[in-house]
Amino acid sequence: MSNKTIIQDVLKGVCTEEDVSNAFFELANTPVVTFRFPNKARTLHIHQDSQVHEQHTGGIVWETSVLLLNFLLLSKVKIGKNVLELGAGCGLLGLGLALANDSVHVTVTDTAQVVAQVHKNVTTNQLQQDSRIKVCAMDWTRYQQDAIASSVTAHSFDTLVATDVLFSPELVQPLLETMQYFAKPDACMYLCVQIRCAKVHALFLEQLGDFGWIGSDVTDELRAIPECKWGPWMGCHLFQLTHI
Ligand SMILES: C[S@@+](CC[C@H](N)C(=O)[O-])C[C@H]1O[C@@H](n2cnc3c(N)ncnc32)[C@H](O)[C@@H]1O
Repeated sequence: MSNKTIIQDVLKGVCTEEDVSNAFFELANTPVVTFRFPNKARTLHIHQDSQVHEQHTGGIVWETSVLLLNFLLLSKVKIGKNVLELGAGCGLLGLGLALANDSVHVTVTDTAQVVAQVHKNVTTNQLQQDSRIKVCAMDWTRYQQDAIASSVTAHSFDTLVATDVLFSPELVQPLLETMQYFAKPDACMYLCVQIRCAKVHALFLEQLGDFGWIGSDVTDELRAIPECKWGPWMGCHLFQLTHI
């Protein structure tokens, strides 16, 4: 792929919130962005569609997905064998986790409309034959029907990941139900969010316990990783969620 826009190059040298905002503005307006893995052995190309904003927000790579991918690749946290990504958008995080960990199986999900973009990115990166990657529709408002349609089993995931999925009060409960339905009892979830609406954020944390989860804010761990330092400047929070 010629004229690659490498995400890490655009973010190189950022030292203020404004720098990071400008960098992501530039990235959002680029049809294809490329993530370079820390060992530089390979790259992941992600097609974006910044024109779809009216219909959904999954057409671009959001700050938190780059942040959580960097964190999970560069920190010492262990991810389980079966990983589920909810509200994946273009698929950077889920596909990135699969490419970086040979022993991991990743199910990348979003609404039916948005997973088309993930399928496109699977093809672009020639991952169609990789049996460790499954891409399917998983709408939080109809997760049981979607699970049956795609043969995704309840309580089968060790690790759940999601970024920038707290934006609508109506979707807080469906999201929590979906998390509860697919997580194994000893599962761990990494949720990275930029607080866009304080009310929705508070509602999610309030209802977490009703669904059997407990959350710790581990945002400080981002500050210890140079590639993640910009996250807290942007008001991004990282939560580690486990069952009570
Ligand atoms: C702000 S975008 C974040 C996308 C991606 N996680 C990222 O950080 O780049 C929010 C995502 O939530 C998805 N979403 C919205 N409503 C949903 C629902 N009912 N079920 C599943 N996903 C949904 C959108 O399609 C979109 O991809």
